[in-house]
Amino acid sequence: MEELQQILDQALTQFSAINDENQLEQAKAKYLGKEGSLTALLKGLGKLSADERPKAGASINQVKQSIEAALQQRRDALGHAKMATKLSAESLDVTLPGRGNGCGGLHPVTRTLSRIEHLFHSLGFSTTSGPEIEHDFYNFTALNIPKNHPARAMHDTFYIDPEHVLRTHTSPVQVHYMQTHQPPLKIISAGRVYRVDSDATHSPMFHQVEGLWVDEEVSFANLKGVVQDFLQRFFEQDDLKVRFRPSFFPFTEPSAEMDMSWRGGWLEIGGCGMVHPAVLKHVNIDSEKYLGFAFGLGVERLAMLRYGVNDLRQFYESDLRFLKQFN
Ligand code: DAH
Repeated sequence: MEELQQILDQALTQFSAINDENQLEQAKAKYLGKEGSLTALLKGLGKLSADERPKAGASINQVKQSIEAALQQRRDALGHAKMATKLSAESLDVTLPGRGNGCGGLHPVTRTLSRIEHLFHSLGFSTTSGPEIEHDFYNFTALNIPKNHPARAMHDTFYIDPEHVLRTHTSPVQVHYMQTHQPPLKIISAGRVYRVDSDATHSPMFHQVEGLWVDEEVSFANLKGVVQDFLQRFFEQDDLKVRFRPSFFPFTEPSAEMDMSWRGGWLEIGGCGMVHPAVLKHVNIDSEKYLGFAFGLGVERLAMLRYGVNDLRQFYESDLRFLKQFN
């Protein structure tokens, strides 16, 4: 009886010290397994006398039940503890602030393009577009820049083959449009252009906006009014001034370069002029009856000035820290 009590005490102490399910099952074997101490006692019952046997048997069984109950209790406790650890590891704090949905934004050049289009629409211009891969005829010849003309050298051209180029300016859109439409014409066309050039103020791909207004009576004064009105509204500056400097473009006569007032000085923002009669002739528009003006503006230049960006290349490096500022 004394031994039984010892076994029970030992089992209870041992079980309560175990924190691992496998160890617990191993400990069980020590008492209840084939070689277990309690099993040994049961086997020894045969050695007792017939009157001692039932009482001893009952006591051993009682201890066996107590051990099994303690075992089960410990198993449950370990199971619960395991579950509690798992739950706390996987717990979700619903009071944490949410991550929200990342919101994309338009690229600053795209924003500038839509702003430009919007402002010209309000001046009665409609929008049109042309291909980025141009036939030499549209990019040069029809614009009065025939082969071997020195003005071809002004454009560092990407050639696709001897007859096709990545357009070096948006001016060829003028030709496409005048070929398919009769005056009066009043359009702008914004898009990508390409030149073999790359530094802080030049990118091999950039954007221009081309403007064209052809009618029976269109003057240089109208050109000046349109450009000035556009720029004043684009930069939201009523006192912004525009200056025209005599220049040369093969497709306009007279030609001028346009400057706008900026921080006490002047900044060049594009070229313009009255459409050259030779250009009108290429598209079968009667230059005795019609005349018009055209202009080309650099879009990145406008975007840089409006947003205070001083390196053009930032527009094309896809750096999110830069782009996110325009959201
Ligand atoms: N196409 C010229 C360039 O890229 C800019 C230009 C000048 C466009 C005069 C015009 C214009 O329409 O009339 O340098």
